[in-house]
Amino acid sequence: MIAREQWGSRLGFVLAAAGSAVGLGNIWKFPYMAGQNGGGAFLILYLVLVFTIGISVMLAEFAIGRAAQRDPVGAFAVLKGKLWPLVGGMGILAGFIILSFYSVVAGWTIAYIIKMATGSLVGDAEALGAAFGGFIADPVQPILYHALFMGLTVAVVLGGVHGGIERACKVLMPMLFVLLLVLIGRAITLPGAEKGLEFFLSPDFSKINGDMLNGALSQAFFSLSIGMGAMITYGSYLNKKENLGKSALWVSSLDSTVAVLAGLLILPAVFAFGFDPAAGPGLTFITLPAVFAQMPAGTFFGILFFVLLTVAALTSAVSLLQPIIAYFSDEWNWNAKATAVIAGLVIFLLGIPSSLSVGIWSDIHFIGEKGFLDSMDYIASNILLPVGGILISIFVGWVVADKMKDEVTNSGEKPFPFMTAWLFICRFVAPVAVAWILVTGL
Ligand code: TRP
Repeated sequence: MIAREQWGSRLGFVLAAAGSAVGLGNIWKFPYMAGQNGGGAFLILYLVLVFTIGISVMLAEFAIGRAAQRDPVGAFAVLKGKLWPLVGGMGILAGFIILSFYSVVAGWTIAYIIKMATGSLVGDAEALGAAFGGFIADPVQPILYHALFMGLTVAVVLGGVHGGIERACKVLMPMLFVLLLVLIGRAITLPGAEKGLEFFLSPDFSKINGDMLNGALSQAFFSLSIGMGAMITYGSYLNKKENLGKSALWVSSLDSTVAVLAGLLILPAVFAFGFDPAAGPGLTFITLPAVFAQMPAGTFFGILFFVLLTVAALTSAVSLLQPIIAYFSDEWNWNAKATAVIAGLVIFLLGIPSSLSVGIWSDIHFIGEKGFLDSMDYIASNILLPVGGILISIFVGWVVADKMKDEVTNSGEKPFPFMTAWLFICRFVAPVAVAWILVTGL
């Protein structure tokens, strides 16, 4: 047996995990969720949930992964056995499902780099809406971009954990921060941007309601990449010296920082040009190009924006593929490179109906009124991730708590001042709160 791969450095691990967390969820979804849910109040609620429940589940995943040094299925088998490996199995399934539609949306972002660059994104919001609708409904082009994005994801993963994922994230994550800051500099100096800043930064707590809470908690799970074992997998490549609590704090902080920065980028621009912040999923692909079309040097900033979105999506996509690779190589001794290619192909095929479902197959419904893409998203985000999150918390809080206490303190060598709070959240708060999302979401 060859030695298990390891991250090259603490910074490399934190950037890879932050790369996983920071993605379409932060830059595309968070601003429109905040826009739809009253701005500032949503932001505060979101941050509170991230730094209580979210960070605790992330730490639980890191601890499980590092203790077991195995893929999500094997990790539960090593630590306890019985039916627990099924939690890991659910996570592997979620990886296939999420990546299949994530890659379709990421494909749109690549297409938009090219559309920006070739000057085909012109006109008002209505014209751009029609252009977006026309593009995603095309039966061929979006699938080719989806193939391209999956190809890139497989290529990074083929390089291995250290040489591929870590190396890519160490270049791409700092680049993402710089791009984001440049764009924010542009957005907040637009005349009229203050209204957007005020909407986003001054909370009106009377707006808090059940739907908002529900949205904020499921967004926190998706954004932090927790509930399916991606962080178990990343934790499994860690050595026994790293401080897990600090790493979880870093990753959660970087992730929320990017979400806040994305809000600071998008909402001021939307307000400055008098668009509706509650425009929903179209905010990124319709409203923003309209904003870029009207602003000085808009093409340049527009290209920069879609490059940023693609980069963020790529470092997240590799974290959805890697648990699958780890599973087949750890449990079935499959060759990691062959697995990456085969899994990439399967996910590509699974993504095709998602892509078609927003076009020629838009009349075919799966779950309720939902088409294939929305149904996949629903199964993963509203069922598999929350159920996974509940079971992971219960596992750490109740089943293997002693082992996990040992793990987060590096066998007593590193003090972990939040032990009581962490275990309390894993035992009671997270299972109850997440069960509530699950039930109200269904
Ligand atoms: N967190 C990523 C985003 O915000 C998406 C993602 C990557 C993810 N890996 C995950 C979501 C694992 C859930 C589980 O775009």
